Amino acid sequence: MRRKLAAGNWKMNGTGAALSELDLLAAKHPSPSLDILICPPAPLLHRAASAVENTSVSVGGQDCHADASGAHTGDISAEMLKDAGASAVILGHSERRVDHGERNEDVRAKARTVMDAGLQAIICVGESLEQRDVANTLDIIGGQLSGSIPDQSTGENLVVAYEPIWAIGTGKVPTLEEIGEVHDFIRARLERRFGEGVGRSVRLLYGGSVKPGNATEIFGVSNVDGALVGGASLKAEDFSGIIQALESI
Ligand code: 13P
Repeated sequence: MRRKLAAGNWKMNGTGAALSELDLLAAKHPSPSLDILICPPAPLLHRAASAVENTSVSVGGQDCHADASGAHTGDISAEMLKDAGASAVILGHSERRVDHGERNEDVRAKARTVMDAGLQAIICVGESLEQRDVANTLDIIGGQLSGSIPDQSTGENLVVAYEPIWAIGTGKVPTLEEIGEVHDFIRARLERRFGEGVGRSVRLLYGGSVKPGNATEIFGVSNVDGALVGGASLKAEDFSGIIQALESI
């Protein structure tokens, strides 16, 4: 059985004042039947980790450099994120792939360092609207999976998040059939590459305009083991509604 995961990506939002949302969130879910992860901006990570210490909430990073250390001004290593309290790192988010030109091989190199540091890599894949319109969504996703996921992946160190670019922050969500088609495809690809045991143990998250109001139906789709949530993770009340929906599946 895969343990469900509700993950929040705060992106470039939040200063110290936002830490109170973590207190509220932890108080609302003292002993959840699933994993709860919040990925705040890097400057908040250490304080966020302290705020959720000894609670059900874990914290993670939103990106890292592929190298362990060195002359990379402005960058952050996986070890640094771990030292600050992270248990996971989001990698290959479309906002990194599009805005920063990250290629599959870059994401794979980052994922290796994250896994070597003993952290979980949450690797994001997803198609643009143009790619969906010409009906090669599964080719795009297949290429991202084989290019971005390192060989050392297991059910413990890898989570895959399917985030259609056109659904992020837009209020648009694929149909349940479309989500199911991609998640079943990702599962089949993981089983083919890593074998049934590992392939079936990797958790698959859906991301893109998940809200308390649509979470229940999305979580009912096969091979959806949770969500990677942007906007609705910023407020404990909204994120809590999503967690409750996931717990009730
Ligand atoms: P929204 O939930 O704001 O659409 O963002 C999704 C996302 O990009 C999470 O990584």
